[in-house]
Amino acid sequence: MSDSYSLLILPGDGIGPEVMEQVTRVIDWFQANRGMSFDISTDLVGGAAYDAHGTPLTDATMAKAQEVDAVLLGAVGGPKYDVLDFSVKPERGLLRLRKEMDLFANLRPAQCFDALADFSSLKREVVAGLDILIVRELTSGVYFGEPRGIHADDNNPENEGGRVGINTQRYTSGEIRRAARSAFELARKRSNKVCSMEKANVMESGILWREEVQWVHDNEYPDVELTHMYADNGAMQLVRNPKQFDVIVTDNLFGDLLSDAAAMLTGSLGMLPSASLGAPMENGRPKAMYEPVHGSAPDIAGQGKANPIACILSFAMALRYSFDEGEAAAELERAVEQVLADGVRTADLMGPEGGVPVSTSGMGDAVLAA
Ligand code: NAI
Ligand code: MG
Repeated sequence: MSDSYSLLILPGDGIGPEVMEQVTRVIDWFQANRGMSFDISTDLVGGAAYDAHGTPLTDATMAKAQEVDAVLLGAVGGPKYDVLDFSVKPERGLLRLRKEMDLFANLRPAQCFDALADFSSLKREVVAGLDILIVRELTSGVYFGEPRGIHADDNNPENEGGRVGINTQRYTSGEIRRAARSAFELARKRSNKVCSMEKANVMESGILWREEVQWVHDNEYPDVELTHMYADNGAMQLVRNPKQFDVIVTDNLFGDLLSDAAAMLTGSLGMLPSASLGAPMENGRPKAMYEPVHGSAPDIAGQGKANPIACILSFAMALRYSFDEGEAAAELERAVEQVLADGVRTADLMGPEGGVPVSTSGMGDAVLAA
């Protein structure tokens, strides 16, 4: 089981380094107590890289990211960098990583720990124990398709205002198949169930989506249970009975909406991990970057207030999806669950029922103890 896993850690800006420090403690724990071995390098990204090198991501860091089993990123950005030219803004470092690693599958879990179920906008019984994963195609679809633009609508006197705005939903079968493969692979490490969402009733790209996902299923993953659903119904089902799902796979646009909606089923931004996966490398592991959904939170940076759980759970995803250490991932998630059940709370998790207030490192202490 235990070869050495190579990790590139990019703490970034704002609360990024603060939450990442707790993750490195967790990694050390797994090395000391579970016989795992991580080969770790740490580097700068975002504003921190700009300050040191005049670019939000150096070529050397980019090359390193292409080599490792997984990249772990904190967050980038901050008001200090708002004045910078677009080409060197902190976000560009993140975009370059995603683009050059060709991370086409964005994974957004919605996992609701019992102790936080009252944070949800839905009833406790609908969300308590929820654990689903939305796989959003990230590099194609209507956000990228050509033609696009705003044009004069010259030969149409009936058009008040005289302009037309155009975007194109375009998917190749290859783009759909690789996203589907990611979803089926992930499902095998979970409850072996995939629901694919599109609008095949009104969109040809949706018909192709449905056919290609079905093709990948029938030819390569017949052991995984596959269902199809129209995305609008999917949105309803997500708020009506989200626990019916395990893995949901969908396109860029629908995935953008559905993953944001699903995230809020579970409460605080400080709890939400994510991952972006690309094609399998030579060792069979997918190219991968793991990061919390939240940003650099300049309003609380440097104050020890940040909740490190989103970043810790991002590492749990790395354990499960990059390293096939599902047992270790579950152990880490159980520790987080235990800590929350014990009422340990960073400020963002403090509800009307109160709890034991802790700092960023206090939360790290509690997770390690659990
Ligand atoms: P944000 O996610 O940084 O913060 C939104 C709110 O949530 C703030 O009130 C913040 O204090 C709180 N929050 C976020 N993470 C938290 C945590 N772990 N624990 C406790 N509270 C937490 O989003 P915002 O304010 O829109 O952006 C701030 C900066 O971060 C900007 O420069 C933005 O560009 C950047 N950003 C970077 C992202 C990334 O690196 N992936 C994603 C989103 C924003
Ligand atoms: Mg969004």
